[in-house]
Amino acid sequence: MAKVTEIKIAKTITQVRNQIKIWQKEGKSIGLVPTMGFLHAGHGSLIKRAVAENDEVIVSDFVNPAQFGPDEDLETYPRNFAADTEFCRKLGAAMIFNPEPSEMYDNPKAYVNIDDLSDGLCGVTRPIHFKGVCTVVSKLFNITNADRAYFGEKDAQQLAIIRKMVKDLDFDVEIVGCPIVREADGLAMSSRNAYLSKDERKAAVCLSKSITLGKEIIHEGMSAKQLIADMSSVIENEALAKIDYLEVVDVELLKPVDKIDGPILVAMAVYIGKARLLDNFSWKPEETITI
Ligand code: PAJ
Repeated sequence: MAKVTEIKIAKTITQVRNQIKIWQKEGKSIGLVPTMGFLHAGHGSLIKRAVAENDEVIVSDFVNPAQFGPDEDLETYPRNFAADTEFCRKLGAAMIFNPEPSEMYDNPKAYVNIDDLSDGLCGVTRPIHFKGVCTVVSKLFNITNADRAYFGEKDAQQLAIIRKMVKDLDFDVEIVGCPIVREADGLAMSSRNAYLSKDERKAAVCLSKSITLGKEIIHEGMSAKQLIADMSSVIENEALAKIDYLEVVDVELLKPVDKIDGPILVAMAVYIGKARLLDNFSWKPEETITI
């Protein structure tokens, strides 16, 4: 476990690479936690796990323009680099990488895209989003040469896409998925929760209430339609909420299923005011024990 009392701040790719070379010469393992900053305890859980499992940890703190559509919240996305740096230092990260967009993108012509998995769920309202995510995450893998990279299950589609990208393109990095961290009332932590007014914040708990209900009623052989209807009604009862999608998909290829009989992901995006919030849970049939 790294015992770091100081944190290095890197603004350029060269600074990161020079430090990585030193660590690699010393035979150290490197963990990467990609983020867009405005860090909270959800990010913190990834950083803690990375610190526990690697000799040195780099947190990238970059609001990636390539993953925002033209009418999305790139300009207003919350930022607080000073607080993020202190947060990472306290958790034992060795370096925070905070490049300017111009450092990462110089009139780029090459992108990383992924077929099928990025078409559904969030891909419907955010058609260029996962191309931007895959491109920046690939660049971060190339820049850091990390042994392990940490992603949250809160963004389940993103995690599935990154796992597939790593497999298909032979990136030499282990992807570690980490459980969703929630507020005391159940709301999944998110930097975008900062957009919520007091009333919206109260209303936002309908996502996790719907997830809790889904976990209670789901059973093998249930129709996906029934599960979606029951879970949707919790959200529809909340006047400030508007469902973007609530779907049941297979856990690997993210294709909708009719009947619940194999490993599935139940995922939703819900607008609460102008904030678009995500939540999900995974489920698989209990293993049958044969004697
Ligand atoms: P960001 O939204 O900042 O999230 C960074 C990482 O933290 C992601 O892997 C996300 O799933 C995880 N995370 C966020 N909230 C969490 C929570 N409540 N519990 C557990 N993990 C949580 O996701 C992105 O940034 C970007 O798309 C990125 C991968 C950095 C590429 O730009």
